[in-house]
Amino acid sequence: MRLGSQVVQLSGSTALVTGATGGIGQAIARTLHGQGARLIVTGRRSDVLEQLAAELGASALTIDISLHDELERLFAAAQEVDILIANAGLPASGELDSFSEAEIDRALAVNLRAPIMLARALVPPMTERGRGHMVFISSLSGKAATPAASLYNATKFGLRGFSWALRAELRDRGVGVSLICPGFVSEAGMFVDADVKLPPGIGTRPPREVARAVINAIEHDRGEIDVAPLPLRASAFFANLAPATASNLARRLGSDRLAREVAGGQRDKR
Ligand SMILES: NC(=O)c1ccc[n+]([C@@H]2O[C@H](COP(=O)([O-])OP(=O)(O)OC[C@H]3O[C@@H](n4cnc5c(N)ncnc54)[C@H](OP(=O)(O)O)[C@@H]3O)[C@@H](O)[C@H]2O)c1
Repeated sequence: MRLGSQVVQLSGSTALVTGATGGIGQAIARTLHGQGARLIVTGRRSDVLEQLAAELGASALTIDISLHDELERLFAAAQEVDILIANAGLPASGELDSFSEAEIDRALAVNLRAPIMLARALVPPMTERGRGHMVFISSLSGKAATPAASLYNATKFGLRGFSWALRAELRDRGVGVSLICPGFVSEAGMFVDADVKLPPGIGTRPPREVARAVINAIEHDRGEIDVAPLPLRASAFFANLAPATASNLARRLGSDRLAREVAGGQRDKR
């Protein structure tokens, strides 16, 4: 129970899921639908989006959230939303000097600016109703920095700081804020699309576990939930506490090669 309000009930609430055409977004949308939420789903690929919307009886909005004008359309459609799941994201992986200026701008716009602007648009109506919850999908890359991921790290570290600060800011206004930090996600999504084999000992979690964490975060008003096997969560925790030591250790364990392989497989998603 939050100060001054009740935790948002999923059944009968309206939830906006960005990036609903992607691997994790589809799982989140289906899980929220299963809990009785009404959905507004967004993405760029209209064919995938329309099919998902038809399956879930959802409203669909095909927009590119890196474009300021299109984001305005989303604000207008989102005024009645009780739950925001800011999930859309680009992998933004690769060495920094391999990015064009436009690619950097797009990664910052999709991964960081759009969630911030969406949150700003939703604070007034949610505060007025004294009820609402915002969930930001970050990553363990929001806690542990890796080579060939400086831009992605920048956006996901940024989203983590934003989410914790906003949570404190809205604590007494009846609006909950949560951050979800997945590690490597199996079955579908940007890691699977990279087609990279993980070294033994590095485990994955399926998209439905990320979706379950979203439900848990809303129902129990959790500030942050990691979704990864214990060793990966422990190493992210350690990297957060002691970044220099963790970085040296990860290098010796071959993290550079893995990071570059993943970046190579995600080159087409800029
Ligand atoms: N997969 C993982 O291992 C993993 C791990 C940690 C965190 N995450 C985070 O989880 C979230 C979802 O990732 P995912 O694995 O599901 O990736 P994904 O399958 O590549 O999906 C990304 C989603 O973001 C949307 N998107 C990208 N750029 C957009 C734009 N300019 N305008 C509107 N929508 C845009 C995509 O829409 P279209 O496809 O329609 O263009 C798609 O729905 C991301 O924030 C990601 O950083 C993923």
